[in-house]
Amino acid sequence: MKPRILITEPIYNEILEYLQPFAELDIEERGKCKDASYLKSIIGNYDAVISMLSNPVNEEVLQAGEKLKIVANYAVGYDNIDVEAATKLGIKVANTPDVLTDATADIAMALLLAVTRKICEAQHYLREDHFKGWEPLGFLGMGLNGKTMGIIGMGRIGQAVARRAKGFGVQILYHNRNKLEASVEGELNARFTEDIEALVKQSDVLSLNCPLTPETRHLIDANMLKVMPKHAVLINTARGPVVDEEALAEALINGEIGGAGLDVFEKEPAVHPKLLEAPNCVLLPHMGSATIEARMQMGHLAADAILGILNGKPEHEIPNLLN
Ligand code: GLV
Ligand code: GLV
Repeated sequence: MKPRILITEPIYNEILEYLQPFAELDIEERGKCKDASYLKSIIGNYDAVISMLSNPVNEEVLQAGEKLKIVANYAVGYDNIDVEAATKLGIKVANTPDVLTDATADIAMALLLAVTRKICEAQHYLREDHFKGWEPLGFLGMGLNGKTMGIIGMGRIGQAVARRAKGFGVQILYHNRNKLEASVEGELNARFTEDIEALVKQSDVLSLNCPLTPETRHLIDANMLKVMPKHAVLINTARGPVVDEEALAEALINGEIGGAGLDVFEKEPAVHPKLLEAPNCVLLPHMGSATIEARMQMGHLAADAILGILNGKPEHEIPNLLN
């Protein structure tokens, strides 16, 4: 009998066709597997799962996966999966790093420019027929050349953001669990800062590119927002809960910071109602990795991890296993 694979949301047909010769595939309706109890009720039927970052693959769900051998998360972040519980249960976990680095760094820059140059309000103004000709003082934004960007989380995506920002004449300060090699720091024109508060204080732009962990949850809270310069812009393309959304909305409304660009939210798909009312912020529906190229490659990485495990390939030959 062929193994059975659950794919918790529709993905590219090419990926399904790639897996079809080896397995029975069930593709769930969009959104259904956000519900842990639903996921738990069906997971026992499957040998492997391609999960989305919105699926809570918690300990209870994993325990119900009686034949489950691998969960391949269709994402680089895997805070939605209890990897420790999976390890105890002998279930492998994989993710899809690298292939979405550029796409996500591009979205960080898109948000940065959209906020600093007021792109969304300006377009709205034009479409609402308020444009009556060039204005010497219309829509003045903050230039990037010569400014300082603080990057929290200098992994692949953080470095890709730094590389882009450098092209805009921006100096980089960064905080990371490990200091980068001097050659990489030199290439990116980036300086390590141990003290996050000192980094935040000096940053005209703050870009969050760290994973969500107990240490980074609400890293940017009311106190940290007070430390940011009044004109500074916060960009979050990492995970929503790294920022206290209520505190951010207050800081924007009270003019304590200059603006924010967010691709991720604390309780997705909900967005804090105050943020929807707050000025100077651009809000996107978690689309950092949403390029044709990245999503196709993410599908292939997830599929290959699953086929590797199901076919008993040596684990060191299977890329992107997390445990
Ligand atoms: C997107 O947020 C991802 O983690 O892939
Ligand atoms: C966004 O682009 C808007 O029109 O407000």
